Amino acid sequence: MPLTGRKTLTQYLIEERRRFPEASGDFNALILDVAMACKAIARAVAFGALGDVLGNHAAAAGGSVNVQGETQEKLDVLSNDYFLRITEWGGHLAGMASEEMDAPYQIPSTYPRGKYLLVFDPLDGSSNIDVNVSVGSIFSVLRAPAGEDREVTEADFLQPGTQQVAAGYALYGPTTMFVLTVGNGVTGFTLDPNLGEFMLTHPDLTVPADTQEFAINASNSRFWEAPVKRYVDECLAGKTGPRAKDFNMRWIASMVAEAHRILMRGGVFLYPRDCKDPAKPGRLRLLYEANPIGFIMEQAGGRASTGRVPMLGVQPDGLHQRIGLVFGSKHEVERIERYHAEPPARKDLDNPLFHERSLFRV
Ligand code: AHG
Ligand code: MN
Ligand code: MN
Repeated sequence: MPLTGRKTLTQYLIEERRRFPEASGDFNALILDVAMACKAIARAVAFGALGDVLGNHAAAAGGSVNVQGETQEKLDVLSNDYFLRITEWGGHLAGMASEEMDAPYQIPSTYPRGKYLLVFDPLDGSSNIDVNVSVGSIFSVLRAPAGEDREVTEADFLQPGTQQVAAGYALYGPTTMFVLTVGNGVTGFTLDPNLGEFMLTHPDLTVPADTQEFAINASNSRFWEAPVKRYVDECLAGKTGPRAKDFNMRWIASMVAEAHRILMRGGVFLYPRDCKDPAKPGRLRLLYEANPIGFIMEQAGGRASTGRVPMLGVQPDGLHQRIGLVFGSKHEVERIERYHAEPPARKDLDNPLFHERSLFRV
């Protein structure tokens, strides 16, 4: 490491691969392409108004929305294009799926097909772009069905989180970071903007099991289910309440930035299932938000859950499936799961939330 005294992401991946002499190198090349896409997005985000990348994608044409009915920002679309263009050519992928694309993306026939599937949220927290608050990209790597030379289908992507080969995110904050798990702990890299390289700065990231910090969008409280209400009420009650300690509350509205804070110093994040919109059992998406962040949390000694069952065990039923998500410090997530499993208290039986939904649905 003569240049900087630190390992680059490339060196880290090569050294990891030496532990598996049979590995082809495809996986490393894929991760480096993903990291390249993240560097391109980081640059676009950093230029902001100077790069003419702020604002709505098609404001002039009356605005543009993605498959999920959400406004697409210019940077959502640009980031999605970077992911596609920078990873499609290498021969490592059989297909991709993204928050910004309705159907799976087929690798153009001009490029060789590979053995992995890439699933991503190209820009998480995009409502924060125009106000210069941290955003990020989230990705998950799955195996493609073996030995089949055909187009990928939605069903190929519907694998539980336990099947992930790797997951990670990039955070475009005061510094740009790249956080990765290949199922062997969690490692963090910081972008050296002069070298254009991710340098290993955070080996063996771990989430403390206990915390006094929680993150939830409290404006939804009237839609919460009773176990969530109970958990938050107890946190708010502080020293004089049943928890006998004071809690701090945070809400950035970029899940990836909340996940990063929790990786750095602990905490718990909740975007639980609620009754705001019966068509949406939760706000966040299973395949490209909950599963990759869940994998990272579990690999760092934290926990990720639907509130009822471990997130990574959930069998997906749709590419853009939404789900209740709770993750972070292990003891807090376990407590929230316990509250969901306990029979409702007498007083809660009168709560209409209990009548509308069964406690035992995922
Ligand atoms: P995205 O920008 O990819 O659509 O995701 C935004 C998500 C997530 O990052 C954040 O936690 C949540 O939306 C914020 O939701 P609220 O606006 O309800 O707070
Ligand atoms: Mn997102
Ligand atoms: Mn997004």
